[in-house]
Amino acid sequence: MEFYHQPVMSDEVVRCLVCKDGGLYVDGTLGGGGHTLEILRASEPTGRVVGIDWDRNALSYSRKRLASYRSRIRLIKGNFANIRDILKELSITRVDGILLDLGVSSHHFEKPERGFSFHHDAALDMRMDMEGRRTAADIVNEFSREELRDIFKKYGEGRWGDKIAMTIVRKREVTPIKTTVELAELVSSAIPRRFHPRGIHPATRVFMALRIVVNNELENIKKAINDCIWLLAHGGRMVVISFHSLEDRIVKASFRSFEGKCVCPPGFPRCVCKTKQEVRLLNRKAIRPSKEEIERNPRARSAKLRAIERL
Ligand SMILES: C[S@@+](CC[C@H](N)C(=O)[O-])C[C@H]1O[C@@H](n2cnc3c(N)ncnc32)[C@H](O)[C@@H]1O
Repeated sequence: MEFYHQPVMSDEVVRCLVCKDGGLYVDGTLGGGGHTLEILRASEPTGRVVGIDWDRNALSYSRKRLASYRSRIRLIKGNFANIRDILKELSITRVDGILLDLGVSSHHFEKPERGFSFHHDAALDMRMDMEGRRTAADIVNEFSREELRDIFKKYGEGRWGDKIAMTIVRKREVTPIKTTVELAELVSSAIPRRFHPRGIHPATRVFMALRIVVNNELENIKKAINDCIWLLAHGGRMVVISFHSLEDRIVKASFRSFEGKCVCPPGFPRCVCKTKQEVRLLNRKAIRPSKEEIERNPRARSAKLRAIERL
């Protein structure tokens, strides 16, 4: 089979989820099915997995790859932010474990036609869900200069955000910006050469910022985590792997918000907020991949894994 994606920290995922025979798990980011496969193996012979992805390529690839586990999987096209409704449709009210392995897969970067990478010249797309309504080209050509500046500042290229936005707006007044390479060159030209970051292409962070907006990534994570907690059985586990600090910050804060720390103002003689602890953090510090894994799979280098147990 063609290569799709190398799963990150698979052993840690299976260990944190304590996969067991008879368990019911959700892989909210099915991708190439690598993690799902490990969960199925670790929960033999009867553990089941609901695999969700909004990219139809991921679903058709995984459906073939996991064909021999047909009786133990349900593969669904959908946004993990809608996990509550997706499971309701399947008449599932409680699960033993949920995994979110955030972001894009290698497939997205390696297929030029998906428009994520400036290493290939292609239409600026960046939608993980190919039925999604807005492409990166729509944003670049339709958002106001201020909106573009805010996106770049917030999600990526802080200092040069305004200059990049201005350069884009000037260019598109002449002709629309259509391709990945066109945008990458434009961003490079907006940042003086001596300020180009070392070791990465100057457009890397702008591309990431656009990808986050096209796919509404941060809002989806927030919503999903808040809903997932209530879908876990008591003792059920949730594992989230993130790949950049904006994601990790949300995961950390969302998990902590269910930890039930008292939110009474300091100096109150006794607790009146009655905040209830719903989860236990399984690791205070994020788990990182081993050196060996990073050598084998450099894409793992920025991964951070956080896990909780529902009380
Ligand atoms: C890092 S890859 C997961 C790889 C997978 N764990 C494996 O072993 O192959 C992330 C996957 O999640 C999907 N994805 C990202 N955000 C999503 C969302 N909000 N809803 C559903 N799928 C999403 C992407 O389409 C991609 O296939």
